[in-house]
Amino acid sequence: MNINHIAIIMDGNGRWATAKNKSRTTGHREGVKVLEDITDFCFELGISCLTVYAFSSENTARPKEEIDGLIRLIKEFFSKKLPKFIKHSIRIVVLGDRNYFDKNVQNIINEAESKTAHFEEKTLAIALNYGARNEIIRAVNKAIDVREKVDENSFSKLLDTKDLLEVDIIIRTGGEKRLSNFLLYQSAYTELFFVNDLWPDFNRERLSEIIAEFKGRSRRFGKVENNIK
Ligand code: FPP
Repeated sequence: MNINHIAIIMDGNGRWATAKNKSRTTGHREGVKVLEDITDFCFELGISCLTVYAFSSENTARPKEEIDGLIRLIKEFFSKKLPKFIKHSIRIVVLGDRNYFDKNVQNIINEAESKTAHFEEKTLAIALNYGARNEIIRAVNKAIDVREKVDENSFSKLLDTKDLLEVDIIIRTGGEKRLSNFLLYQSAYTELFFVNDLWPDFNRERLSEIIAEFKGRSRRFGKVENNIK
């Protein structure tokens, strides 16, 4: 079974850091390293799109120190890694409402997107100040603005994920079993995987196990086994 798109809720950085008597920001920094390795691995496996939940709209309610640390990491990630993305032909897409971030951060994000927009085979989508309900409401308002009724096809083109393929797998690390406002519209037929590893402990081996389990699942999309198109 072909896998085009994996999405990940990278949960558990804070608990990982606390258990080691380190700051939560240190946990997020460790999380970025794992993100880089898992991104490389996905593309090595021929998976064309990886989407990660890096900063939810609810995260904005965290203490200022943690938010500042996360935003510093986001800035660093986009500016330092842009040459690598370009060298490896990786398209960067950002989901979520970026207006929350200051102009400098917005410019860094916009630059990463515009300089990689022409790449077609590999996409890393990063959800920043993202919330699925907010994404859906923004899409509805776009339809109202142009006074047009929508169907499933046209509505999906109003979502932040308009340029991405269907999501095959969502993985949540950190032991919680919920979607926490991530890709609610897009996950209608997605296979869900919940693992106990904290995100900084997640690795290629665990992803390989998930992929093997996915291949053994039967995806019927609401149909019966011998009627799947
Ligand atoms: C959840 O862990 C994780 C986050 C809120 C942020 C995830 C961010 C990164 C991996 C790094 C930043 C990403 C980029 C692209 C630069 P948590 O803090 O909720 O952990 P806890 O549940 O153990 O408290």
